[in-house]
Amino acid sequence: MKKLEVYFLLMLITGMVGCGKKQENNKFNIDKNLDYCVTQASQTLKHIPEDSVMPRNITGKADGHWKFVPYNDWTSGFWPGTLWYLYEYTGEEKWKEEADRFSRYLTPLSVRSATDHDLGFQVFCSFGNGYRLTENSDYRKTILKTADTLATLYNPKVGTILSWPGMVDKMGWPHNTIIDNMMNLEMLFWASKNGGKDSLYDIAVKHAETTMKNHFRKDHSVYHVVVYDTITGKKVKGVTHQGYADNSLWARGQAWAIYGYTMTYRETGADKFLDFAQKVADVYLDRLPGDMIPFWDFDAPHIPDEPKDASAAAITASALLELSGYIKDPVKAAVYRESAEKMLGELSSPEYRSNDRNTAFLLHSTGHYPNGSEVDASIIYADYYYLEALVRLKKLREGKPVADPALVSNR
Ligand code: GLY
Repeated sequence: MKKLEVYFLLMLITGMVGCGKKQENNKFNIDKNLDYCVTQASQTLKHIPEDSVMPRNITGKADGHWKFVPYNDWTSGFWPGTLWYLYEYTGEEKWKEEADRFSRYLTPLSVRSATDHDLGFQVFCSFGNGYRLTENSDYRKTILKTADTLATLYNPKVGTILSWPGMVDKMGWPHNTIIDNMMNLEMLFWASKNGGKDSLYDIAVKHAETTMKNHFRKDHSVYHVVVYDTITGKKVKGVTHQGYADNSLWARGQAWAIYGYTMTYRETGADKFLDFAQKVADVYLDRLPGDMIPFWDFDAPHIPDEPKDASAAAITASALLELSGYIKDPVKAAVYRESAEKMLGELSSPEYRSNDRNTAFLLHSTGHYPNGSEVDASIIYADYYYLEALVRLKKLREGKPVADPALVSNR
């Protein structure tokens, strides 16, 4: 019996499903954790040295300081996105002004040609959240322009977006697509429903379908990178870049897949994506260690003496909170919700929280282990998805949906 099946059974036996009281007892205080994020981010704001740079990571000793990066770094959208979530939580103008200021530093991304797929992370976490909360038409224009730019990387022969143009020659990967790219489809879906071209929707769906076909092993664990032949459009091979080995399960890659297919279901309503989101979630949950926070790669050779990846846990927690709302089977929905709450509980414990050691929210993420970079570090995207998950959990507890499909439709 798989671990997940045992968990279903235990939940049934202990009556956790549908037992509001028991869940009530297990609740951790969301507002306390959100207030903690407000305090930490207020400190970070004071330390940002100049205009137009974004905090990215704190490496080495946990009591170090943020390393800052320019607007074109792939992580540049997460700090403005964090500020937007803090505005959503507090309702305070101060956070809106800061979120607006930092988002606008990214505007040049909407008028240059695409250098990689990360435009969605950059522009949708910043301007996308900004538009959701303010309906500022400047933000809408920036997103629409950037979505068109991202679409220039689409190869219709293959049916996916080219993720890393820079790796075509460097690695000899003629058309490469990484699983992370699923996340950037959200901007295309949104643009297609908010005044952009219909073709953006078609590109996003085709990318998700092609990735579903080629990026996963039989057990639904994911390859980080799939290399395609640009002439035939066929898959050449699945490999890794940030994982332990080509055939290993890189934790954050699986997290991107869970989030990406949940979001694709939200935007399309197609059951095949909902089924698939569950399959990719189940293999991840089944292989987790007891504390629900994965090692950086599920197949890393020296587990348990390997670094953890809190960012994968934060991304997955946020995704599972959304996924739990789409599942008709109450037992399975409860498993996803309970799992997400446990992940958030662990991330909010003294083991994972930065507290006064630094001004990030979380410790113990791993960015690029094979490169030796951002290993056991505080990383801005872990903080962003942790905060997003807390905001989502608060909405769930208030009986609100955690995420709406892009609402304005011109289709
Ligand atoms: N998208 C890059 C990463 O997950 O590290």
